[in-house]
Amino acid sequence: MTVTLVPPPAPQPPAVADPLDVLGVAGQVNLDYAATAPCARAAADAVAELLPWYASVHRGAGALSRRCTLAYERARQTVGDFLGARADDHVVFTRNTTDALNLLARALPAGTTVVTFGGEHHANLLPWPRGSVRLPVPPDPAGAVRALDAALGELRRQAPSGPRGAQQGPPVLVAVTAASNVTGERWPVAELARVARRHGARIAVDAAQLAPHAPVDVAALDVDYLTLSGHKLYAPFGAGVLVGRADWLDAAPPYLAGGGATSHVGAATHDVRWATGPARHEAGTPNLLGAVALAAVCTALADADRAALHDAEQALLTRLREGLAALPHVLELRMFGPAAPRVGIVSFVVAGRDSTEVAAELATTYDIGVRDGLFCAHPLARRLLDEAAARAGQRDLPPTALRASIGLGSTTGHVDRLLAALAALA
Ligand SMILES: Cc1ncc(COP(=O)(O)O)c(C=O)c1O
Repeated sequence: MTVTLVPPPAPQPPAVADPLDVLGVAGQVNLDYAATAPCARAAADAVAELLPWYASVHRGAGALSRRCTLAYERARQTVGDFLGARADDHVVFTRNTTDALNLLARALPAGTTVVTFGGEHHANLLPWPRGSVRLPVPPDPAGAVRALDAALGELRRQAPSGPRGAQQGPPVLVAVTAASNVTGERWPVAELARVARRHGARIAVDAAQLAPHAPVDVAALDVDYLTLSGHKLYAPFGAGVLVGRADWLDAAPPYLAGGGATSHVGAATHDVRWATGPARHEAGTPNLLGAVALAAVCTALADADRAALHDAEQALLTRLREGLAALPHVLELRMFGPAAPRVGIVSFVVAGRDSTEVAAELATTYDIGVRDGLFCAHPLARRLLDEAAARAGQRDLPPTALRASIGLGSTTGHVDRLLAALAALA
């Protein structure tokens, strides 16, 4: 008997996992990133690495606790750097964008007038105080800049004059989204910031939908506040952030009263000195894993070729929009115009079909997940449905819409599957 010796296979270098790979379930096509994006490997790995060390944050002397405290504060630094925070900005961890905007609303100096547009998500419409100004959705980004300029000019004219005739009204905050959660269209944030600055107003940017798709930089945009949600940025639920100017935040009552937010508590009921800095608004034990996972994604994105990611997403988006436009019964919703810059989000309706039924059929028959409804932006979504009906001269549009959204890990196969399913459904 002859024995052939087969040499053992040469050792292969271990496959290097991309920290921006996203987790998912085989067979399921997730086209609902704008609601919650899938978890990136960077976030999952960061959580797995920290779990054995799980211990208190800012509350313990043990080695585990000290490591957790360090990890939490490093996460703050990383997220702040990723968002271009200035040296004297605060980076406050919150639960999500809604929480961050509510925190900011509670920190406004008395009498602040907030100016928004009607195109906002409810999170950036509802927290603001009475007397806030809501401008109509303009026909294009340049119209937004003009409308804001006019509105802020009018507010200044109404403000009482101080010594030497200088206008001395209460503060004004402009609160605007960077990218619409309904249409994906981008708002001209840098130009709006310039207008706000010229009128002595501050500006807060809701970057919940832009940050997952493009870099956002507080200092470069010259904005005062910026908010986002970890669960839309490939990190787990429960961690968001408010970045911005320290003065209003340090002067405001703490968002939550409790442990961690104080520098001194005396025996008398109201003998308390509140901390300054992020701690003032982070009472209670913080969401360590959420913050660390969010920071891990920020690091991975900062290390990635974002221009290449952007180009790949835009190519997919074009394929999706062109495919939808080719379907005879499908109408896209849009604010500004077909060629306006946008991120990977498209809302549409299937004429003659109820959107909830279409979404359910896509899920059950085709394993495709999309969102249906008015997307927590009721004023905008209703208006865009009316406009789409008028544009197409169609009366049989449903009262709600469908939304497909893409990002890291989305493929042409996913897009084509949706288009094929819609063609079959319609
Ligand atoms: C533009 C925009 N702002 C705010 C929010 C609120 O985000 P969260 O639900 O994470 O608080 C969303 C969520 O869809 C959004 O799209």
